[in-house]
Amino acid sequence: MIFDGHLRGLRAAGHDDPGRGIALESPRTLNQTAQQRVRARYESEHGRAWERIETARPASYFEENVVFGRRPLVRRLIEWLEPRAGLRVLDGGCGLGRIAEELAGHGATITGVDLVPRFVEAARGTASSGSLEFEAGNFVDRLRPGGKQAGYAALLLLGVLEDYAPAERHELIRHVADAAVPRVYLAFRFSDDRGSRLWNLFPEAQQRSINSVELLRWIHLHTAYRQRRQDRFVRRNFRCHLAELVRDPVA
Ligand SMILES: C[S@@+](CC[C@H](N)C(=O)[O-])C[C@H]1O[C@@H](n2cnc3c(N)ncnc32)[C@H](O)[C@@H]1O
Repeated sequence: MIFDGHLRGLRAAGHDDPGRGIALESPRTLNQTAQQRVRARYESEHGRAWERIETARPASYFEENVVFGRRPLVRRLIEWLEPRAGLRVLDGGCGLGRIAEELAGHGATITGVDLVPRFVEAARGTASSGSLEFEAGNFVDRLRPGGKQAGYAALLLLGVLEDYAPAERHELIRHVADAAVPRVYLAFRFSDDRGSRLWNLFPEAQQRSINSVELLRWIHLHTAYRQRRQDRFVRRNFRCHLAELVRDPVA
């Protein structure tokens, strides 16, 4: 019973639960509310923890697992994405831009967009390649049809979907699907087995997570994207799913 109660508490704190969709009146309201909430979250200790993770200065056992757990994930991403000169990539929710920087080092042209201006300033401050640009804002705005920045070959959403409740997440994915970017790379913390729930009993390890089967099923049913490849990266409490999505021309 105590265990059940704890799990309910975790769900209330934002862990995935299909029954917890947010029903607001219009998608626009939903989106703005969500953006404000995400910004506020990264302006708190959560954002400082994220800075330590991205700059590889972990302050706890749990942060260290994320730092080391992400390394093979980034190597796999580079293998699948094949960044090279001429490849235009939108890094939606780029954080401090460390992954964007690495991809630009392979020759790709990267636009990183993040809701948190402090992160974008930091990313600009360390950018060492001319094929990198960073902007503060909602990455969805860069995907508007006919916009000056249309024509990306790939979109990265790495560690971004966890910031949203299921209904908001679906709305974001609908925007992505409308923009028809040929390839989309999703990395998200998954939670479809007992192991991750057990880790969630440790307060420091509490991270929002997503049921990968439900998310990918939803994408398959509601968009033209299909998962072409997937891999999973696990380092103790860090459990991350990487998916390469491509558009199915007949869907
Ligand atoms: C966990 S961090 C991941 C950063 C980076 N993608 C990485 O993996 O190193 C998630 C970032 O996504 C950003 N974010 C969430 N929703 C966004 C949106 N709609 N537009 C732009 N940035 C967003 C947050 O501000 C945060 O910096």
